[in-house]
Amino acid sequence: MKFLVINGSPRKQNTYNVIKQAKVNLNGDFEEINLIKENIPMCNGCFKCILESETECPHYDKIDPIIEKLHECDGLIIGSPVYAMNVTGLLKNFFDHTAYLYHRPEFFTKKALVVVTTAGAGHKKVAKYIDETLRHWGVNKVYKISFACGGNDSLDNDKVNKVSQKFAFDLISNKLHSPKFTDIIFYNVWRAMALSKDPIKADKEYWFNTGLVNHDFSPEVKLNIPKIVFAKIVFNVLKKAIK
Ligand SMILES: Cc1cc2nc3c(=O)[nH]c(=O)nc-3n(C[C@H](O)[C@H](O)[C@H](O)COP(=O)(O)O)c2cc1C
Repeated sequence: MKFLVINGSPRKQNTYNVIKQAKVNLNGDFEEINLIKENIPMCNGCFKCILESETECPHYDKIDPIIEKLHECDGLIIGSPVYAMNVTGLLKNFFDHTAYLYHRPEFFTKKALVVVTTAGAGHKKVAKYIDETLRHWGVNKVYKISFACGGNDSLDNDKVNKVSQKFAFDLISNKLHSPKFTDIIFYNVWRAMALSKDPIKADKEYWFNTGLVNHDFSPEVKLNIPKIVFAKIVFNVLKKAIK
C-alpha cells in the first residue's frame, strides 16, 4: 500500500504529530510532501489550467510531480492547521493550482484521510472544506480527524487511532463507495457543460477523451438504481438548461 502525505503546515508539530500517530495504524510505504519546501509560487490567476490545459500552468513543473504522486498512491493523508479560520495559505495555494480538477475530476478511486488541528476553533469547518475540495477532485471517500489542541499539544490518540484504523480497513477492502448526491450533481454539471454549444475546450477534450461524457458517473464507481435515475434526471435537466 502506498501513501502520500501532504503536510500543509509550515512546521512539523501538532498536525504532523497527528499524522504520525495515524501512520502507526497504516501499513505501507509513505511519501511525504511538506508544502513549505515545495516553494510553489502563488497562483497568478492566469486561467490557463482551466481554459487551456493544466500543462500550461506557469507552475506546472511544481504541480505536476505532486499530481503524479497523487495518481500513484493508494491513500492520501492531507493535513492543515487552522489559520484565521481556514486552511494555511500553503495548502490553499496548492488547492488553487488544482482548480481545473473541479472541471475535470480525476481521482475517482482514491480515498483520503484529512487531518486538521487548531488551538480553539474552526477545525470542523476547515476539515469540511478540505473534504469538499477532495470530492471536487473526484475522491471516493474522505475520513476526517480534526480537533482542538488548546494551549497544550496533547493528542487525542483514541480518536486518531479509531479513524485511521477505519481508513486502513477501507483501503484494504478495495471497495469503492457510492457517491453522495452532491457528487453526482457536480459531476453532471461539468459533464453537461462539456456538451454545451460553447464549452471550455480543455473540459470538452477531457470529458470526450476519457469517455466520461457517456457515463452517469465514473464507471469505476457503482451507482444503485435510485442514484442512476437521479444522475440521468440531473444530466438531462442541466443539458437543457446549459445548452
Ligand atoms: C497564523 C496562525 C493563525 C491561526 N489561526 C487560528 C484560528 O483562526 N483559530 C484557532 O483556533 N487557532 C488558530 N491558530 C492556531 C493553530 O491552528 C494551532 O496551533 C495548530 O494546532 C498548529 O498546527 P501545526 O503545529 O501543525 O502548525 C493559528 C496559528 C497561526 C500560526
